[in-house]
Amino acid sequence: MKSKGSLLIKLLIIQYLSSLFVAQNFDFFYFVQQWPGSYCDTSQGCCYPPTGKPASDFGIHGLWPNNNDGSYPSNCDPNNPFNQSEVSDLMSSLETNWPSLACPSSDGISFWTHEWDKHGTCSESVLDEHDYFQAALNLKNKTNLLQALASAGINPNGESYNLSDIINAINQSDGFTPSIECNDDESGNNQLYQVYMCVDTSGSNLIECSVSPTGANCANQITFPAF
Ligand SMILES: *[C@@H]1O[C@H](CO)[C@@H](O)[C@H](O)[C@H]1NC(C)=O
Ligand SMILES: *[C@@H]1O[C@H](CO)[C@@H](O)[C@H](O)[C@H]1NC(C)=O
Ligand SMILES: *[C@@H]1O[C@H](CO)[C@@H](O)[C@H](O)[C@H]1NC(C)=O
Ligand SMILES: *[C@@H]1O[C@H](CO)[C@@H](O)[C@H](O)[C@H]1NC(C)=O
Repeated sequence: MKSKGSLLIKLLIIQYLSSLFVAQNFDFFYFVQQWPGSYCDTSQGCCYPPTGKPASDFGIHGLWPNNNDGSYPSNCDPNNPFNQSEVSDLMSSLETNWPSLACPSSDGISFWTHEWDKHGTCSESVLDEHDYFQAALNLKNKTNLLQALASAGINPNGESYNLSDIINAINQSDGFTPSIECNDDESGNNQLYQVYMCVDTSGSNLIECSVSPTGANCANQITFPAF
């Protein structure tokens, strides 16, 4: 009896330790959204997907597992590549909220494949493929960036805005501090390009970031171009 009991305890300890090991694969997610106007008005330009010009709204770039030391895992499971059938019920929502603006024109499959294969497989112990894409869609809806900015009078009209006003507007609305990444339009104006927010390892709750993304590189005044 005694040895059976201790075997069970040993098995439980092994199971607990291995679940800890899996859970410690990453510390948090960056949820990254991009402004299509700033993707398209660069010298490189963009291509609309076959479904046409995306809505004048932020689009999802990705949900990226990251570590508190700034490093991140990638391409974690080549045996679990993107499988379109897993997300067939999300297809129209993905087309609307996670469009590809890359050239040549693409229906999004190659974008989502890249995001799942490179980033999503690194959180597959927490979120399977369907739940991963669903989590990103839920986060976009929840953060509602365009509304958050509009309620502070910040709109995509080509005008210049204070970077700290942009950060505060998002913090006011969503409760957490975003990081902003900028790029330059064809005339060299520094502009709002991507918004990074941090999310806990469940993929559902926003948190304060423990480390800033390397992309955050904006001037104090940045433009918010139309799209
Ligand atoms: C893709 O997903 C579908 C639906 O879950 C499944 O039936 C199919 O076997 C998967 N394909 C591959 C190659 O894993
Ligand atoms: C987004 O969230 C709102 C509630 O905040 C809900 O009414 C709406 O159905 C959601 N939309 C999607 C596409 O999930
Ligand atoms: C913009 O922000 C800076 C500090 O980052 C501040 O000194 C300045 O007054 C702000 N400008 C406006 C117009 O709010
Ligand atoms: C943003 O919100 C969080 C949580 O409410 C707060 O701790 C933080 O100080 C805020 N940051 C800024 C820049 O306002």
